[in-house]
Amino acid sequence: MADRYLRFTGTAPGRLLARRLGLPQPTALRRWSPEHPDLTGPVLRLTAGIPREADEPAPAAVVLDATGVRQPAGLRDVYAALHPVVRSLAPCGRLIVLGAVPDPADPHQAAAQQALEGFVRSLGKEIGRGSTVQLLRLAPGADPDATLRFLLSPKSAYVSGQVIEIGPAVPVASEGTRTALVTGAARGIGESVAATLARDGHHVVCLDVPQAEEALAVVARRLGGTPLALDITAPDAGERMAAALPDGLDVLVHNAGITRDRKLANMAADRWDSVLDVNLGSVIRTTDHLLTSGTLRDGGRIVATASISGIAGNAGQTNYAASKAGVIGFVRALAADPRTAEHGITVNAVAPGFIETKMTAAVPLFIREAGRRMNSLGQGGLPVDVAETVAWFADPGSGGVTGQVVRVCGQSLLGA
Ligand SMILES: NC(=O)c1ccc[n+]([C@@H]2O[C@H](COP(=O)([O-])OP(=O)(O)OC[C@H]3O[C@@H](n4cnc5c(N)ncnc54)[C@H](O)[C@@H]3O)[C@@H](O)[C@H]2O)c1
Repeated sequence: MADRYLRFTGTAPGRLLARRLGLPQPTALRRWSPEHPDLTGPVLRLTAGIPREADEPAPAAVVLDATGVRQPAGLRDVYAALHPVVRSLAPCGRLIVLGAVPDPADPHQAAAQQALEGFVRSLGKEIGRGSTVQLLRLAPGADPDATLRFLLSPKSAYVSGQVIEIGPAVPVASEGTRTALVTGAARGIGESVAATLARDGHHVVCLDVPQAEEALAVVARRLGGTPLALDITAPDAGERMAAALPDGLDVLVHNAGITRDRKLANMAADRWDSVLDVNLGSVIRTTDHLLTSGTLRDGGRIVATASISGIAGNAGQTNYAASKAGVIGFVRALAADPRTAEHGITVNAVAPGFIETKMTAAVPLFIREAGRRMNSLGQGGLPVDVAETVAWFADPGSGGVTGQVVRVCGQSLLGA
């Protein structure tokens, strides 16, 4: 599982050799820890079209307000603001462009604002040194604070090249300890999600299949949570989840997922059926039950797990990619459904790229190496990178973030 190449290129001889041979030189990413919770350095705030007031010698982050760019000619101000500072950004820095939502009734504004997407995605590919670049589109009335806190922190280390839209939040009073349910919590990404939500003060109900009961009990005990041994494909899974949540639920994280890879021509029907049922069918059935039974409280959060395979497609994964693309379709539609939208419940998807887990450790070496390097940060992500993104969606301050699909993939070359 260890990325030996990343460790080797972190040493002086490794760096020299990689440079000489023209090999990738990934920067070891700075991740959140209680000792280092923040970026180390100032945040430089700029506005397109307004000259800079003071110089920050090496900003840890740059935030450019480009919401006022309403004409393609105004893009010159984006260039003028960032061209002089981009080189001075500290390693593992953050560059965030604030944009407006493209207005279909105003083709000039729509062109200018859509242009920012191409700009940000390109800058993400060239900026290097472990830095990330994102576009935040702000609808009128949006409060970007929680999202900026996440993006301007080490928690977003492996998130880059993303376009995130924030709308106005439905105000909901929230009090007391929040309860979260995480499926597939016995190991891998799910275990990390459960641990991160527990860190953020949630009581976590940790769900996994009965066969994983022992590992599940260990995780739940460590986090002060509650284990729930249950197969999410059971016909009564929604009822049993609701029964385990007599006081209601605030955060529902659909993380459990399986792969049964084969090319379509060689794929037996049971491989198709099981992947579609675990990854998509059960997600829809249990969500529907938790909504209609009133288990999910107002102001709740639903986070489902997609994959970059569901966006880009992947040979041997017609079943998996179909299921994960289905998750994206479900999340987008459910976010606009009155059962969620009128109750301040947000619905989002996280789409991991190559994450270092037991699942990816089993991938043949050559494909594994390609998966690790073929992204802007030149390395695989860690389960905690996905977990921190889920925790940001779950944040009570993220009420304006709904219907979004955020990739945690180091800006993988696969897919958009
Ligand atoms: N690891 C990656 O690189 C990667 C990339 C993209 C997406 N994902 C997605 O992230 C999620 C977690 O992946 P992971 O790598 O941690 O996988 P994993 O196999 O390590 O863990 C998945 C967990 O889900 C549980 N599970 C499976 N079927 C279940 C069922 N029917 N009912 C209840 N629990 C069930 C398993 O027992 C396991 O504990 C999955 O949805 C996966 O598709 C992972």
